[in-house]
Amino acid sequence: MELITNLQEIVGIDSVSASPMELYCYSSDASQIRGTPDYVVRPQDSEQVSKILKFANEHEIPVTARGAGTGLAGGAVALEGGIVLDLSGMDRILDIDINNLQVAVEPGVVHSKLNEVLKAEGFFFPPDPGSSAMCTLGGLIANNGSGMRSVKYGTTRSYVLDLEVVLADGSVIHTGSKTLKSSAGYDLTRLMVGSEGTLGVITKAILKIHPLPKARTVVLASFETPELAGEAVVKTLSEGVIPSACEILDRTTVEVLNSYDPNIAIPDAGATILFEFDGTKSSVVEEAEIVEAVCKPFASGIRVAADRKEMEEIWSARRLVGAAISRINPNKTRVYVGEDVGVPIKEIPRMLKLVQSISDEFDLPIMTYGHVGDGNLHTGMCIDMLDNEQWERLNLAADKIHKTAIMLDGTVSAEHGIGSARCEYMRLERGDALDVMILIKRALDPKGILNPGKLGV
Ligand code: LAC
Ligand code: ZN
Repeated sequence: MELITNLQEIVGIDSVSASPMELYCYSSDASQIRGTPDYVVRPQDSEQVSKILKFANEHEIPVTARGAGTGLAGGAVALEGGIVLDLSGMDRILDIDINNLQVAVEPGVVHSKLNEVLKAEGFFFPPDPGSSAMCTLGGLIANNGSGMRSVKYGTTRSYVLDLEVVLADGSVIHTGSKTLKSSAGYDLTRLMVGSEGTLGVITKAILKIHPLPKARTVVLASFETPELAGEAVVKTLSEGVIPSACEILDRTTVEVLNSYDPNIAIPDAGATILFEFDGTKSSVVEEAEIVEAVCKPFASGIRVAADRKEMEEIWSARRLVGAAISRINPNKTRVYVGEDVGVPIKEIPRMLKLVQSISDEFDLPIMTYGHVGDGNLHTGMCIDMLDNEQWERLNLAADKIHKTAIMLDGTVSAEHGIGSARCEYMRLERGDALDVMILIKRALDPKGILNPGKLGV
């Protein structure tokens, strides 16, 4: 029997494709990494996923799980062909359990959809990635994604109570439970979060949720240099004020935002910090006053966003920075490569300064933005994709940025994942811990069928 027929028997004829056009559409994510699968399979439930993995394991066929394909590190790209398991059709919100402060979801639920539904209940799921309107919760969990609110609320990892996971041999386990706490054994939930589809396929998740805050305010502070902005952030956090978002936008990023939405008009400056506070009406005013006082000696200008409309405009534009950068010069064949380094908070000013010197050294403009309150910076470089010499400089600059982050006790990926883009840094960053990861990988996936070529395992 042909392999495709076996897959069709499991999920139905219409849920398997091997058409070249479709395979091409699944051959990349939002990075520049490419790998064409042999089959795209769209399961509808965990039973089908289990049967597919059992079959693939027996026949040693690679399986790469995929949500919306918004990843920036090639994590969902089938480097060795085989099956791409498109989980975007498993998109049901299974249970909204307000009394237990949790929801049960399938992996294909789009992030913003969950928050739309929760809003009506007065709740929200705090991790807030830039790709909220597109990315799926399965991908977010598999990469431990986070975004703009983790400075106060933590990353996705802090919200996962239980995962239903299909292992390489097709067996199905639950890694946790509905309880908010558990001391029962190894924390398999945390092991699966961030494992990027290399240890199992997530088919269901129970996630903690939070009540929506009653009030928000945004303070926009301008600085002459990114470094000064970094110093103000370190000082603010050490004053005990925890913003619900703390984003840095360098001069180019502000230019991109202002051209994306002319209503926004963030003042031109070496760097801008957007501090958001959430809480009660009075607490947000009090915290905004503290941050204004702390930033004053460093800042060239400070103002509070006029109203809810302005705040919403600022955040929706901020989410699209990566995509909006092409507006700066729409006539060129441009490619955007965004890195995702993280450093300890105290090192933020130094990292910002070093990024600037790397930009000068390689004569490559680097747009720096991101979740500076977590020490997480995105260093976006934009080049003409047809120019090999520019590619070479970009790769050298990216390499130096990664190694600089590690030198400062940081990480090469704070939220986008390792995928295949950053495997070469795993040994440098994680040392002997990488050997333990390899042992875990071999124990759970002895034939190496799950997302091969990723994470350096
Ligand atoms: C962001 C994505 C790139 O923060 O992580 O916009
Ligand atoms: Zn980000």
